Amino acid sequence: MTRFHFWMIGACALAATAALTGCKKERDAGKKVYTIGFSQTTVKEPWRVLFNERLKEAADKHPEVNLVILDADDRTEEQVAQVRNFIDQKVDAILISPKEAPGLTRPVEEAMDAGIPVILLDRSVSTDKYTSFVGGDNLQIGREAGKLAVKFLGGPGQAKGIIYEICGGLASPPAQERRDGFHEIVEKEPGIKILGGLDADWKKDNAMAKMQDALSRYSEIDLVYAHNDPMAHGAYLAAKQAGRADKIKFIGIDAMPDEGQRWVRTGELTATLLYPTPGEKGLEVALDILAGKPVEKRYILPTRVFTQENVDRGGDPVEPSTPTPATAAAPAS
Ligand code: FRU
Repeated sequence: MTRFHFWMIGACALAATAALTGCKKERDAGKKVYTIGFSQTTVKEPWRVLFNERLKEAADKHPEVNLVILDADDRTEEQVAQVRNFIDQKVDAILISPKEAPGLTRPVEEAMDAGIPVILLDRSVSTDKYTSFVGGDNLQIGREAGKLAVKFLGGPGQAKGIIYEICGGLASPPAQERRDGFHEIVEKEPGIKILGGLDADWKKDNAMAKMQDALSRYSEIDLVYAHNDPMAHGAYLAAKQAGRADKIKFIGIDAMPDEGQRWVRTGELTATLLYPTPGEKGLEVALDILAGKPVEKRYILPTRVFTQENVDRGGDPVEPSTPTPATAAAPAS
């Protein structure tokens, strides 16, 4: 039997396979209590820990919500089982931040077929059959990272150098879009060559190992672009060990105060882009759906750019580039 990792709040303490619907009890003189199940990819990364904390804080303000957070432990099969368990237990809404698109597409469709609204958080799947999506514009973030790289390497038309790219999980849309947006900008520069591009699954240790290998193979690396800050920092640490960190610029993504922003301040990273956690907005959207209000199909959270010049004043905003979202299909009751 699948072992579920529970991280939950709300009035009910659930045993691993206990019926989640057992939580659907009447509180406060007959007011309905909603069970909202959230399947989180992993809690091995600080960004996801913050994501869960903010979501829990938001849910704490709603006595009518029982939020059940499950940790899929970075495993697709675990996450598939969690979504199917939520369906079996007939939760009122499902929030999911999918590990990857191919494996989670079908379970999301199954939940929708069962009449359960699904709100995708941060990573999407390969179907339009979901109720709403809340996350960043990763194509735009990739393009902004590309503009920074061009600037750091000499400016448009004159930029020169070798970039080593370290990718997040390439079966997930954020990694694909962060790669595509970056390449779109940087490939216009004949003086820049991009190496690397391997999947490091968002993890610092994997990125460190990839960078060690790259440093042993390439005598020149001028800039590292990593799809998140932990990987950019891992690459920085490998370069530092090899005595080459001061010759390389490092760009990451996430810009958490205690990670990316701090590393930009200390000079370990050259720049980072904010990737806001989507939990609070995701909960708000779920509650609107449960209240029968219309919701948008996509909610795009804006990014900010952080460099050494602007980090102490909170970075600079970036104009959203995403077109006006379409309204979602009729909400489930
Ligand atoms: C955490 C994380 C973040 C990244 C996001 C992309 O798992 O790797 O660092 O921005 O996922 O989905």
